[in-house]
Amino acid sequence: MVKHLFLSIALSVGFQLQANIPYVDNLMSKMTLEEKLGQLNLMPAGGIVTGGVIESKTAEDIKSGRLGGIFNIKGRAEIEALQKLAVEKSRLGIPLLVGMDIIHGYETVFPIPLALSCTWDLQGIEESARIAAEEASCVGIGWTFSPMVDICVDARWGRIAEGGGEDPYLGSLIGAAMVRGYQGDLSKPTNIMACVKHFALYGAVEGGRDYNTVDMSRIRMFNQYFPPYEAAVKAGAGSVMSSFNLVDGQHATANKWLQTDLLRNKWKFDGFVVTDYASINEMQVHGFGTVADNSYKALKAGTDMDMCSQGFINHLKSGLENGQVSMADIDQACHRVLEAKYKLGLFDNPYKFFDAKREKKVMYSDANRKVARDLAAESFVLLKNDNNLLPLKKQGTIALIGPLSQTRDNLTGTWSVAQATDKYQTLEEGFRKALKGRATLLCAQGCNITRDEDTQLGAELGKHITRVDAKKAKAEALKIAQQADVVVCAMGECADFSGESSSRVDLNLPDEQMELLQAIAETGKPVVLLNFAGRPTVLDWESQHVNAIMNVWFGGSETPDAVCDVLFGDKCPSGRLTVSMPRATGQQPLYYNHLNTGRPVPYSAPRYQKFASNYIEVRNGALYPFGYGLTYTQFDYSNMRTTVKDDSVTVAVKVTNTGKRDAYEVVQLYIHDVYASIARPVCELKGFQRVFLKAGESKDVTLKLGRDDLSYYDGEGNRVFEPGEFDIMVGKNSRENLVERVMVR
Ligand code: NOJ
Repeated sequence: MVKHLFLSIALSVGFQLQANIPYVDNLMSKMTLEEKLGQLNLMPAGGIVTGGVIESKTAEDIKSGRLGGIFNIKGRAEIEALQKLAVEKSRLGIPLLVGMDIIHGYETVFPIPLALSCTWDLQGIEESARIAAEEASCVGIGWTFSPMVDICVDARWGRIAEGGGEDPYLGSLIGAAMVRGYQGDLSKPTNIMACVKHFALYGAVEGGRDYNTVDMSRIRMFNQYFPPYEAAVKAGAGSVMSSFNLVDGQHATANKWLQTDLLRNKWKFDGFVVTDYASINEMQVHGFGTVADNSYKALKAGTDMDMCSQGFINHLKSGLENGQVSMADIDQACHRVLEAKYKLGLFDNPYKFFDAKREKKVMYSDANRKVARDLAAESFVLLKNDNNLLPLKKQGTIALIGPLSQTRDNLTGTWSVAQATDKYQTLEEGFRKALKGRATLLCAQGCNITRDEDTQLGAELGKHITRVDAKKAKAEALKIAQQADVVVCAMGECADFSGESSSRVDLNLPDEQMELLQAIAETGKPVVLLNFAGRPTVLDWESQHVNAIMNVWFGGSETPDAVCDVLFGDKCPSGRLTVSMPRATGQQPLYYNHLNTGRPVPYSAPRYQKFASNYIEVRNGALYPFGYGLTYTQFDYSNMRTTVKDDSVTVAVKVTNTGKRDAYEVVQLYIHDVYASIARPVCELKGFQRVFLKAGESKDVTLKLGRDDLSYYDGEGNRVFEPGEFDIMVGKNSRENLVERVMVR
């Protein structure tokens, strides 16, 4: 009876019912308003900040119960000392939630997420998250701001490095795998809470300029951008981070449609929502009133925790007094934050995440490093390999040239805050180890990352890449190139060229590097380009003049060993692109699953067509399309068979390894809905299988499409299935595949 009464009151005041956790209810009954607001307050406690530094008196605030969580502080002892303050010196002893941006590993650094997605290895990706959790959890961290599942189709945006590429289907599977990897059974001391970010649409900032405006139709949101958030939420993520941008003209942080109607009511999310760094403060700059007003709006919309703005702690009391927020709103948010701590088992043991013994055993362990090395090797995408130049033989004279050849910490890429640089190798060291003196290795940096010293040093980009005298360095590099049988160029972006606030307008290899590469190519020696990149870059000239190109992204702490594994043929490349590699920067945004338009021009059209949808200077489509990647053998696809039964389609195809090496192939299944009530993409990934085929071996691969795979979202987020014709495509990438048209009723 009492329960029913509560239910009807709850529904009539319009707030969500909380999980019934007597411990949390009991605790809340003892809390003052200020202590409740304290739980909603999250502040950085270490030196790692990604915005304006906001004054905070961490220790005092913890003792007075004004802080619910801290983040981005490194060191077990430092974190434990703060947790002790919370548990022993605050009135109610409520433990802190300790968060960190563990985006692709802790000390064992895995490839950047974009690179990881190119493995198409969901088990491996889940394992990487599990290992990150295992390492981070023993030094006091219980919460990671990952996975970042923002779809991005604009390579100018530096944060494309942090996501799973341009495809919503693959992005959804990856997001869910990462949540499972981090969280597993949350009560265990080796698992940590995930935070799905950035909700929502952050990857669609205009012009790829970070923090910029976002504006899009609901049809596009639901079909192209929302699926990975929804999948990660449905995989059980404990928290969600709102994004910096606008959605429908409202800031995501104060957008009730997003945070409550969609996230909670439609997707049934039952965790808590945290803002991104100082978002409530920034709302004022966007043009949304005072910090106080924005704090009320954010809470009302469904935001529970305020990262860095201190808007909730400083202003919600006045909001309560002037009726802008209710006690029920505050209780609801506080309950959700405490629930998260409860789920993590922090009330049972606030020190569960401090384990020096385990730290010794697992941190950067051989076992973890092996997984990172394997995943790095799997993430490399072989784009070109003329006359089977690769794999290289460990013989003769090899020249290793380029600004990425002698750096230790740039190989890990963006967001490697816990990296243990001193433990890692440079590429040159990796080469020496792999070659074991069987070939002569000549090395030279050859040039700077960019000529522009201001960009490089002013913004701290290119850090730890020694500045060289360009003329001298080039001469030295050309000298060793002349002496070599083959030249390996380690060039591209350095770590800080991608990631947060690292947007670019030019995706070509920067000046000095391009000039050097061109000069090396002119020597006539066979050239291999190892392209380091946190985004798709333009490789147009390179694709015509360099003999072999392997996109190695940023492979993490084990990059040097992994590069050698693949370059010298101990492993075959198996990475496939999850983003479209452009022909020119001006093609952005560029993505394979685009709409057809009324005047399409296929990528195969030899030249520009007047009054059609294309550019004057370059052909349409990617230079290297989504799903593309070569290896040291070839795969042949034949005997495609489709069987339609009711509203599902079974697709079978014979895949044969026709070459001389055993290798993985990623068999990809795409569809095109030929006629529908809304225009549908020319091609959409709907399934894949990563299969291992021995040289000469054939396998029949079967993939299934259900009704849901053939459906799309309407503007309200409902699935719509329209019977009719579908093109079914199966093959090695989004461009090279076998096609059959089927009728599904
Ligand atoms: C801002 C970034 O947008 C977000 O991804 C990150 O988690 C927070 N800063 C905390 O460092």
